[in-house]
Amino acid sequence: MTLNKPQHRCFTFLLLLPLLLQFYSVKSDLQLNYYAQSCPNAEQIVKQQVIKLYNKHGNTAISWLRNLFHDCMVKSCDASLLLRTINGIESEQESDRSFGMRNFKYVNTIKEALEKECPMTVSCADIVALSARDGVVMLGGPRIEMRTGRKDSKQSYLPEVEKTIPNHNDSTQSVLSRFRSIGIDTEGTVALLGAHSVGRVHCVNLVHRLYPTVDPTLDPDHAEYLKRRCPTPDPDPKAVLYSRNDLQTPMILDNNYYNNLLKHKGLLLVDQQLTSDPSTSPFVEKMAADNGYFHDQFARAILLLSENNPLTEDQGEIRKDCRYVNGD
Ligand code: HEM
Ligand SMILES: *[C@@H]1O[C@H](CO)[C@@H](O)[C@H](O)[C@H]1NC(C)=O
Repeated sequence: MTLNKPQHRCFTFLLLLPLLLQFYSVKSDLQLNYYAQSCPNAEQIVKQQVIKLYNKHGNTAISWLRNLFHDCMVKSCDASLLLRTINGIESEQESDRSFGMRNFKYVNTIKEALEKECPMTVSCADIVALSARDGVVMLGGPRIEMRTGRKDSKQSYLPEVEKTIPNHNDSTQSVLSRFRSIGIDTEGTVALLGAHSVGRVHCVNLVHRLYPTVDPTLDPDHAEYLKRRCPTPDPDPKAVLYSRNDLQTPMILDNNYYNNLLKHKGLLLVDQQLTSDPSTSPFVEKMAADNGYFHDQFARAILLLSENNPLTEDQGEIRKDCRYVNGD
């Protein structure tokens, strides 16, 4: 058998294709098991901490998922979200878009466990990525193979947050264009919003769909239920009145979110509008019908999000404390 027949050459090329693709897609220095030499137990330690925290406070797993979105969407996956307001730094956590974010203090719990084993070795940005990955598993979502090697920023980008994280009432098209700008397509964006299968929404983000008149895209019985949860049109934002996104399986990352949308039980306008925009509605229907398909698309899009523009090598640092730039 010789390799000079055209179909054989073609076959050889196909064999090499995955290698070539792998080579060209490495636009960064992220790699699988980046800490294999420097801190062989790093990924195991993150996972143990995520499990331990989940067992004490189940909603930490939910927070790790939202953290990934809010960190990676703003400039890059660089833990800029975790910096506190101090010494000229204005924290992204202070943006209106960060409303309701919780459990930041437990990021330090994970970081402390890593510092004990290998000081100044594992970045906070990789903690954001890996904790989201392991949190997703605790929530019954897909297993995602994630590369590591991200570095931490020396800045927080508060003014960028409103430019990159959509608002709860933005149009589907504007949401799609924001995700497209970081390389996530329509199908991936619809899958990522499936994160709203878990967690809560405060009344302040809801009441505009209930008062003075009920949004006609909201199921009337569900609207009555939500009015009981959120009895006033102008709730005190600090009053922790909220509703769960998915009443049936609030702690499971499943396609019930899409089934709820089809029943007009989406909580945020950005959620419900996915069913009325013709570019997204076919994906909503497909994800509602097939949890495996939702999980596959979710995993694919989370990876893209987690690799948005990472800082590598000398572009950033390894923070000692995720809340502060080193030396502050
Ligand atoms: C169009 C894009 C998005 C908008 C406008 C949006 C907006 C919001 C809002 C307003 C809340 C409720 C906050 C509150 O009232 O407490 C929320 C919660 C949440 N979001 Fe999003 N989100 C978007 C996309 C995403 C993505 C892509 C993810 C993750 C992959 C995500 C993960 C979460 C999680 C997990 C919660 C629940 C947080 C908790 O219960 O602590 N969101 N989001
Ligand atoms: C969207 O909601 C914000 C409050 O979160 C409000 O200020 C703004 O006017 C709303 N935009 C639209 C188009 O309704």
